[in-house]
Amino acid sequence: MSLTSARPRLLTGDRPTGPLHLGHLVGSLRNRVRLQATYDAYFIIADLHMLTTRNTPEDIAQIDQRACGLVLDALSAGIEPEHADFYLQSAIPEVHELAGLLQSLVTVSRLERLPALKDMARDSGLDMSFALLGYPVLQSADILSVRANAVPVGKDNYAFVEITRELARRFNGRYGEVFPIPEIIAGEAPTLIGTDGKRKMSKSLDNAVALSDDASTVRRKVMRMYTDSNRISADVPGTVEGNPVFAWLDVFAVDTDRVEELKRWYRAGAVGDVEVKEYLVGVVNDVLEPMRERRERFSKPGLVEQLIEDGTGRVRAETQETVYAMKRAMGLTGAWNRIRRRAERAR
Ligand code: TRP
Repeated sequence: MSLTSARPRLLTGDRPTGPLHLGHLVGSLRNRVRLQATYDAYFIIADLHMLTTRNTPEDIAQIDQRACGLVLDALSAGIEPEHADFYLQSAIPEVHELAGLLQSLVTVSRLERLPALKDMARDSGLDMSFALLGYPVLQSADILSVRANAVPVGKDNYAFVEITRELARRFNGRYGEVFPIPEIIAGEAPTLIGTDGKRKMSKSLDNAVALSDDASTVRRKVMRMYTDSNRISADVPGTVEGNPVFAWLDVFAVDTDRVEELKRWYRAGAVGDVEVKEYLVGVVNDVLEPMRERRERFSKPGLVEQLIEDGTGRVRAETQETVYAMKRAMGLTGAWNRIRRRAERAR
């Protein structure tokens, strides 16, 4: 992507904790693909954010592969490299400096009260670290580093972007206009239930179909999916509501008449789970097949790595400019310049 275009900017991204799955496709990737028509897009691979809850040498050793996997997942879903910069957060040391400059603009109690952070601490099984408390401030530094106008994220991230908006307003109010106030862009799709039918799709719950799964893996996972546990044979009337097989059909099937028909038959005990699942296997593979072709196209050795290297270089330059603009607005560059000038005059 070139830096000269005057389109509005969006920034979003993911922590490199594993491959993206169907839940990401409906929850965020499709939204991102749609938005690339109007925005210049920056996609962060947020490895520093990963460190706030997962910082073992084993986690860190996997960052490069997972980063490349994330980019390939995004490209397979339809992100075009001409409209997007992918970058590795930890390769931009200035983001720490930017985050540091924001830290005095938010209170500890504001951060401590965020339910999203408490949940993350609980899920990690650890007490809230200093880094985790600062998670929203670091995320704000990401968003403000490229002076993004929009941040497409899921509900779990709204509170963090709210903090970003507060920080941007506070900075602008105190020191002068440096930042646009970024808008949250909400996804429209409902959250996708996992194969277990219990919780939302998540890699760590082992209830996900990855975008990189091949056709036979999709078949195996779908055929093992939870359905209606009261249904011991195909002639027993089944329940459609809360049945993940039908929830997925509602989200992915193109032929809605066929889905309605299957629902009627299922409720009447006139179609078996296996038949409905067979249909779903086809539907999911129809969604993934064009993505497999795109994945193949971008799977040349070093291609994804080159995209990340180029994108990181551009975002780093942007971040350096932003930090400089902040320090100038704050008067910090002035302080340093006056000290140096007086030292020089006395030499
Ligand atoms: N918090 C995001 C997540 O849930 C990752 C992230 C880090 C992010 N920096 C961001 C998202 C900036 C949007 C914008 O994994």
